[in-house]
Amino acid sequence: MNKTEEFFEKIITVKLSPDKKAVNIIDQTCLPSEIRRIDLHTKEEIWDAIKKLKVRGAPAIGVTAAYGMAVLSAGIGKEDYDPFYKEFMEIKDYLASSRPTAVNLFWALDRMERCLVSNKDKAVSEIKEILYREAEDIREEDVNISRNIGETGFRLLEDIREKTGRAPGILTHCNAGTLATAKYGTATAPMYIALEHGWKGNDLHVYCDETRPLLQGGRLTAFELSEAGIDTTIQCDNMASLLMKSGKIDIVFVGCDRVAANGDSANKIGTSGVAILAKHYNIPFYVCAPSSTIDMKTETGEGIPIEMREGSEVTEMWYEKPLGAPGADVFNPAFDVTDHELITGIITEKGLVSPSYKEGFKKLFS
Ligand code: MRU
Repeated sequence: MNKTEEFFEKIITVKLSPDKKAVNIIDQTCLPSEIRRIDLHTKEEIWDAIKKLKVRGAPAIGVTAAYGMAVLSAGIGKEDYDPFYKEFMEIKDYLASSRPTAVNLFWALDRMERCLVSNKDKAVSEIKEILYREAEDIREEDVNISRNIGETGFRLLEDIREKTGRAPGILTHCNAGTLATAKYGTATAPMYIALEHGWKGNDLHVYCDETRPLLQGGRLTAFELSEAGIDTTIQCDNMASLLMKSGKIDIVFVGCDRVAANGDSANKIGTSGVAILAKHYNIPFYVCAPSSTIDMKTETGEGIPIEMREGSEVTEMWYEKPLGAPGADVFNPAFDVTDHELITGIITEKGLVSPSYKEGFKKLFS
């Protein structure tokens, strides 16, 4: 096993426990100090792990929900289809209420339901096995999706290296990495694919926005990239402008939680600011999106629900003493929407979509 494969083995974000009775995840709230794996047995444990960001990142949330449905369905003590379906739907609706923005959660849950319904003529015991296989398929497909996104993104890195004759400088925001998916990440996939193509860790340099308030960039992206041996720098979010001005950034790759039909893309809070800066400094800004993240039912970014989170995450969570003035309210949206006009291209597993996105998505899905 080479170093990159060893790394991927070490940080498998979500898997099924060996006895198939639990979803086994890395508790990402413990990173980077500790790689702690935990088993989630009950629907409450799964809901809580998604809500509290023990597992997070749009595709990883989808995979967790799919495994969760398989594990919890196996525990439904009904032998007839109708009562089994009723209980399945109660669990599905409950898990769907954990986080509102990432469309992958709903996508994965709907796919598990479709799988169940299309096998309704089979015995419930057989359906339970089929649901496990469907969840495994969702995980496997995610690996391939990320790999394809990575190949397209890697070609952009090759172009930069050819033109500039130096290691491309990449800026990313939040964590759209291994920890957010089943393997390569989306925004980080071009970097990992570069390693698979024989690039060394110093043939590229990744600048990770720390990503206030929950520090997914500083804690998670910087952790996984440096573990993989890639040259990595952490900067606070408000340092990105200076960095871009200095000429160190050739390209921006970010992930996304939901893309509207016109290309407006929701991602971690602060992403739209990065896009505005990139436009100002004439730096290409790419959104890396599995096609399951494209929500053709939502016409524009206006229609994407934005999760609001506890103010204590901003003022208390990472600090020994509260950092915010006690009398002040706290504004803590988890995501913002980047206007499609700021996006150079959307990289999907089916290829690069350039503006106009409406037209591009139509072709993508036809
Ligand atoms: O709140 P989080 O940590 O779940 O937010 C994650 C992001 O915004 C990611 O960039 C997005 O989910 C894409 S993950 C491939």
